Amino acid sequence: ASTVALIPAAGSGTRLGAGIPKAFVDLAGRTILQRCVDGVLAAGVGHVVVAVPADLIAATRADVPDAQVVVGGSVRSDSVRACLAATVGAGTSEPDVVLVHDAARALTPPAVFARVVDAVLSGHDAVIPAVPVTDTLKRVDVDGTVVATVDRSPLRAVQTPQGFRPEALARAHASGADATDDAGLAEALGMGVHVVDGDLMAFKITTEWDLRLARMLCEQGAA
Ligand code: CTP
Ligand code: MG
Repeated sequence: ASTVALIPAAGSGTRLGAGIPKAFVDLAGRTILQRCVDGVLAAGVGHVVVAVPADLIAATRADVPDAQVVVGGSVRSDSVRACLAATVGAGTSEPDVVLVHDAARALTPPAVFARVVDAVLSGHDAVIPAVPVTDTLKRVDVDGTVVATVDRSPLRAVQTPQGFRPEALARAHASGADATDDAGLAEALGMGVHVVDGDLMAFKITTEWDLRLARMLCEQGAA
């Protein structure tokens, strides 16, 4: 089966606060984006499209020579649509599966990719990897007073890669809306979204703490 991965990597990394776009931050000798693309290719994905800020196009082509590189947008969904426009529906032969994968989930193990791809090939239009929530969750009002303790048992923390039949992803993005993940756009259209097991190693490098953890894992050879 043929698989394409779209990698939004055009964010500025405000919460990380590294002073450069997050995907270009060093992670034990390779950038976050390089490690992400390495992982995607190691998982057997045939074609990779990366969206980055306009001023980093040339640097990205040098950093990840095996990837197609496009200019991203001002919000994540725009960056995904820039990748989509350059591949699926751009006259190239349609892949069996399209994955959308955050550059910031650079240490995602190959088994997660395999579970997502297999679920799409078995007939699901949209597939997401997810893990149980471990903390106690409370709803808090603006004054800092607890309103309620939320039952966490049906809740899941959602990761990437998210997998789609090409037609389903194109339909999800047709509205031009923004969402924090692609499955959210599919849900808004009433499409069914199937959940498979994620992996704690697919955590998103968002804060300085996440970056410290990711660096330790790389230095220890655990990722
Ligand atoms: N992303 C993107 N284009 C945007 C915004 C985000 O391609 N306009 C990408 C990021 O590069 C990242 C993924 O979407 O790989 C997940 O976003 P997030 O973790 O929020 O990254 P940033 O938006 O860069 O971080 P922050 O929200 O802290 O600024
Ligand atoms: Mg963001």
